[in-house]
Amino acid sequence: MAAVSAVPGLGLAADRSFSPSLAALARAKGLRFGSAVGMGTFNDPRYRQVLIDECGVLVPENELKWYVLRPDAKTFAFGRADRIAAFAKAHDIALRGHTLLWHHPKWFPAWLNAYDFGQGPAAAKNAQALLVDHIDKVVAHYPQIASWDVVNETIDPKDGSIRRTVFSDAMGQEQTLDVAFHAARAAAPKARLVYNDYMGWEAGNEAHRAGVLKLLEGFRKRGTPVDALGVQSHLGTEDPAAPGSLGRPQEKAWRAFIDEATGMGYDLLITEFDVNDQNLPADIAVRDADTAAVAKAYLDLMLDYRQTKEVLAWGMVDKYSWLQGFTPRKDGLAMRVTLYDDAYRPKPLREAVAAALRSAPARA
Ligand code: XIL
Repeated sequence: MAAVSAVPGLGLAADRSFSPSLAALARAKGLRFGSAVGMGTFNDPRYRQVLIDECGVLVPENELKWYVLRPDAKTFAFGRADRIAAFAKAHDIALRGHTLLWHHPKWFPAWLNAYDFGQGPAAAKNAQALLVDHIDKVVAHYPQIASWDVVNETIDPKDGSIRRTVFSDAMGQEQTLDVAFHAARAAAPKARLVYNDYMGWEAGNEAHRAGVLKLLEGFRKRGTPVDALGVQSHLGTEDPAAPGSLGRPQEKAWRAFIDEATGMGYDLLITEFDVNDQNLPADIAVRDADTAAVAKAYLDLMLDYRQTKEVLAWGMVDKYSWLQGFTPRKDGLAMRVTLYDDAYRPKPLREAVAAALRSAPARA
């Protein structure tokens, strides 16, 4: 692989084909490292090379969501996810599943939000049939997936309540989530089943964390088959009280949250790692140093828990990150939120992840 010029002033190695790769560093500790990949970026051969060089796992970024897979109640449009699956297979990279039920009406296809399940007990039966059929067919189509985000983001961060959807209006809120996990367990008895959400360690996430803990407790009480908590780890939230920063991490409260989740027997996954630099100063060296420092502190804390089994980045190259469109910087500069810059050069953030993997305790 061609060497590229060194990143000035940052003391990084110049060649982008790192050895060992992040996948290898993770593997040496009994962990998995990987990334999300979406159809748009998938067409860029240089991006694909970064995935091949660094990743032991790939996650379709949108291609398994209802709004891509399900144009209507009868059709399953597997084509796009199949392309990612074929690429992963060709390069001996594992595939992870995201997500069987993003339980939030905003992310349901319009036809589903408008679906009429009928009245009375029939409504619950019909809703259950549609949800179980979806999970059965999607899980059966990808038998190679050993780790599934079964339910995604169902806790409302404002008050910790469970979101309502057409499914929960017909079946009940807890019942809907339980149906999803039981269906996933039946379809993939050996897979790791994950509840995934974005409650973060920064101030402002208190109600969200409390709601997630309540949800996890409920799963245990009812015997719902949930194996792990997916901690999305989109670091650096917007925090009006801390302008110009990456938010205010609450390390003590965060440890207490993680202790409670692991105390209930849940494993942990870092499922969507990136660091949002929208509020940092323009200077690139400052931004890169700050994001790398917060990432190292966070990953050290998380990897110290032997329950943390996987580390997934939500994209590997800045220009393709979802955050460029989701929370653009006010000064119009491109964000620097992933491990590689727009010239496919590794950034200090990549070094922070590598260092955290190197110093992580080994898993059994
Ligand atoms: C995002 C994708 O990255 C975007 O391309 C898409 O437009 C919206 O969804 N939490 C999740 C992910 O669980 O599915 C989201 O992915 C990012 C936040």
